[in-house]
Amino acid sequence: MKKQILASLVVLLALAGCSKNEHSETLTTQSSETAKVEKQKSAKTDIQVGKDYHSLSNPDEMKVTHVSLDLTVDFERKVLAGTAELTLEKIKADVKRLILDTRDLTMTAVTAGDKKVPFSLLEEDPYLGTPLLVSVPKDVNKVTVAYETSPDASGVQWLTPQQTAGKQHPFLFTQAQAIHARSFIPLQDTPKARVTYDAVIRTPKELLAVMSAANDPDTERDGVYEFNMPQPIPSYLIALAVGDLQFQSMGERTGVYAEASWLARAAAEFEDTENMLIETEKRYGEYSWGRYDLLILPPSFPFGGMENPRLSFITPTVIAGDKSLVALIAHELAHSWSGNTITNATWRDLWLNEGFTTYLTYRIMEFIYGTDRYNMELVLGAQDLAADIAELPEKDQILAIDLRGRDADDVFSNIPYEKGALFLRELEDKIGRDNFDQFLLNYFEHFAFQSITTEQFITYLDETLLAQYPQQLDKARILKWIFEPGIPAGAPTASSDAFTVVDNAHKAWLSGEEKAADINTANWNYHQWKYFVDNLPETMTVEQMSELDAVFNFTGYQNNEIAHSWLLHAINNDYKVAWDRLYDYLTTIGRNKLVKPLYAALSKTPEGKAFAKKAFDVAKVGYHPLTISANEGYVQ
Ligand code: BES
Ligand code: ZN
Repeated sequence: MKKQILASLVVLLALAGCSKNEHSETLTTQSSETAKVEKQKSAKTDIQVGKDYHSLSNPDEMKVTHVSLDLTVDFERKVLAGTAELTLEKIKADVKRLILDTRDLTMTAVTAGDKKVPFSLLEEDPYLGTPLLVSVPKDVNKVTVAYETSPDASGVQWLTPQQTAGKQHPFLFTQAQAIHARSFIPLQDTPKARVTYDAVIRTPKELLAVMSAANDPDTERDGVYEFNMPQPIPSYLIALAVGDLQFQSMGERTGVYAEASWLARAAAEFEDTENMLIETEKRYGEYSWGRYDLLILPPSFPFGGMENPRLSFITPTVIAGDKSLVALIAHELAHSWSGNTITNATWRDLWLNEGFTTYLTYRIMEFIYGTDRYNMELVLGAQDLAADIAELPEKDQILAIDLRGRDADDVFSNIPYEKGALFLRELEDKIGRDNFDQFLLNYFEHFAFQSITTEQFITYLDETLLAQYPQQLDKARILKWIFEPGIPAGAPTASSDAFTVVDNAHKAWLSGEEKAADINTANWNYHQWKYFVDNLPETMTVEQMSELDAVFNFTGYQNNEIAHSWLLHAINNDYKVAWDRLYDYLTTIGRNKLVKPLYAALSKTPEGKAFAKKAFDVAKVGYHPLTISANEGYVQ
């Protein structure tokens, strides 16, 4: 109640055209009191299903339905500056306030037509940013916000020419998931509310802009680029990159954008993308987005991949030369169905995006590369999951995770991914693969272009699989999967004959029966090597590490995943021979999943920490803000 009064007060003040600063200060003090009380209350009450605790905006009252951007990319000042015109739909008839999420944005004016509209900034929340309150006059359904971003925007990375492959031109990319779109566009930054968008992006003439929208590979490079995304998407899928990019086609609907020196290698590595698209469509329904292209980013991209619609953003660290890491492409492609077409309504429901996508990834790998590959990928996934279950607190092992009061980026563990996928694999096992595929096809169609909660998914299960297969499925067990920590007993397991060979090699070597040089590794593939290194004992002597290194050259290994596993052993066993390589690794790769465990392991000893600090201080200028904030704690 108090909150409502406050909000109306703000509107009144804004409507009265009072000077923004004076009043926002008073409001700040009062609303921080209210916020405290609210917080204490919510800690005791139950979670409100479908409420997005990571947005302060009000789409339930007045919804933004379309965003129209006109932005100039200023590499010198490291800002995006221009306007966002928002089309509004009033959900509650008499509502006059529009609340947008922003973070570190500078707003210069808000207008409707050519008239100024009152606006003010509300209290800043450390995780959620600073809400922007706009009073919308009656009968107005479009407002335009003139603004610019901060050089430190959490969702934008500005790279100097030196940080690119070509070294000639600067580079820019955005990463909006989970709640960073608000750092470059004032909008309702919640996956609950979907928007269509269009954009005009103005860049230096020699550069190309691409977006998560229709991209024309043959566009004239004149520094003014226009985009249109006609399907409604959640805000975290709005994405932009600008750089000295070239395009190469890989198939009828697929192609790759990259800096020139990566282009041919990337197109060869990912040449199966078109087939992945075709095979996925066969089972799960038509691809809804037109083209599917990949954008290869500089190595500071903080993730493996990001499923920006029509244009997945991809780390170059997966270009291994042997297609060994292309599950990442299958994953980002699969999001075109699970994630982009059906979207998690809030970040608590992230497992609906990532669990379904991880399940589909395994299936796509089998469609394209066969059952042996499928089994190996499953075992490696199961091991990652087991490691997280052993380490994470119980509350973080729950699929429908409670994120109230936490940073949305905290959900990044194997739980939504691998536990989510394992749950779906159990459903598949129980009702049969064809039936489960049919279910998925229906599910994708049923909720197409909607954002849904875990509870909506459960209701849908009730109406479909639970009704159709009462003998095979058990509701209580399904709820256990979704709402309880750990893995229910009797969950599906995975095994791979190719890995039995590796297990035997481990045993023979560790017992002293066989020297490393005598292990017959002639036909081993990437996955066997990865499994071999991952499953070496935690504690080894320097002699043992040296023997392996002398025979297999793990320290010089170019595959970034295997190098990562080896470097972890090198840290944990104080194997200093590999530390030059470790330094090189940490200062050239910014993918958080690869560097974070290394920093964490280094931080456990004073010597390791000093080394980590040295590497971090050098690497930092090239790291993405997300990688910096995830790791700075380890070097302090
Ligand atoms: N959508 C995610 C990345 C993400 C998740 C960003 C949550 C921010 C918050 C993307 O699809 C993803 O899962 N990437 C993985 C790859 C994968 C093969 C598991 C990654 O980047 O490691
Ligand atoms: Zn994903």
